[in-house]
Amino acid sequence: MTYFFSLLVVKSTSAERKIMSFNIIGTGSYLPPQIVTNDDLAKTLDTSDEWITQRVGISTRHISVDECAADMGYQAALKALEMAKTQPDEIDLIIAASITGDNICPTVAGTIQKMLGSNAISFDINSACSGFLFALDTAAGFFERGTVKKALVIGSERMSKILDWNDRSTCVIFGDGAGAVVLEVGDGYIASKLSTKGDDDVIKIPTGRNNSPFYKKTMDEGIVFMDGQETFKFAVNTITREISDIANENNISLNDIKYIVPHQANIRIIQYASKRLNIPMEKFSVNIERCGNTSAASIPIALDELCRAKDLQKGSLIVFSAFGGGLSTATTLIKW
Ligand code: ACO
Repeated sequence: MTYFFSLLVVKSTSAERKIMSFNIIGTGSYLPPQIVTNDDLAKTLDTSDEWITQRVGISTRHISVDECAADMGYQAALKALEMAKTQPDEIDLIIAASITGDNICPTVAGTIQKMLGSNAISFDINSACSGFLFALDTAAGFFERGTVKKALVIGSERMSKILDWNDRSTCVIFGDGAGAVVLEVGDGYIASKLSTKGDDDVIKIPTGRNNSPFYKKTMDEGIVFMDGQETFKFAVNTITREISDIANENNISLNDIKYIVPHQANIRIIQYASKRLNIPMEKFSVNIERCGNTSAASIPIALDELCRAKDLQKGSLIVFSAFGGGLSTATTLIKW
């Protein structure tokens, strides 16, 4: 099997130079203890276990009672650091992907930095459900420039705080949680494809609060608005095209991919991708039934579960595939 790591090799003025990337050396995840079933939701909403299970594939989700995105991200980070046998003071960079941080400042990453007692450069990235993969790609830039040796990338979301709990078309599909990875210098980050299409027609989460005395409120704020059917169409088209493209562009066959860790938005989206790409469902890491859609936390949680359940062999090719608000898409090819 031959790989051409085309995106890791750029032309310098005089000669080709190999660019350093990273390996994932630890993963961790955290789900808040409160579990909410479909039947729990059906007590206050015009919905049913049957509808949610069949249309979305979710049975339960974890919902935070008193933990913010930073609290959950910190717990996931501790587990990833433990697996990586890494101390917080060895981490040079912390990036957190989140759309549900408690503060604009300090950031989720900054708060986790303080909790860890670390001096790492820390900042957040917002690209909705694709945020974790945007954060990984941003971290890759730091490795490429040689400015960091170890990094922590976290996806953490408390989606429950930005949902309209009277809107059955959105509140039943999301959950809370966090996932984290520890990265160190290596050659495991092979390629990424990121895209954005700035558009508020399909998904919009307006920020809440405006303290200006001159402000005129024109719409509900701080909650998720989503055209489910349009998002669904966008998602199925994106996930199949992007996985296929990243394989082609890196001269690997779809059969060479050991596992796919997709964004957990709807089981029907993942089943569609499996069928269209002719990749068996067993190769997709799926936890939507227990976790729902945890936005930027979805891929790192599913990766951590995959990593702990399977004996991932060094060199295995794994694809991450995300889509969501922005609109945004992100697909990543790594070598374990
Ligand atoms: N329980 C019962 N009925 C419901 C519910 C519910 N929870 N929600 C909607 N319905 C009803 C609708 O009112 C509609 O009824 P009607 O036919 O009488 O008008 C019917 O079910 C069908 O509604 P649709 O919206 O067409 O349902 P659909 O099959 O498309 O499922 C869903 C909705 C689950 C949201 C789906 O469209 C979906 O998964 N979309 C993708 C979501 C996604 O990928 N999000 C990721 C990004 S999120 C982010 O970035 C923040």
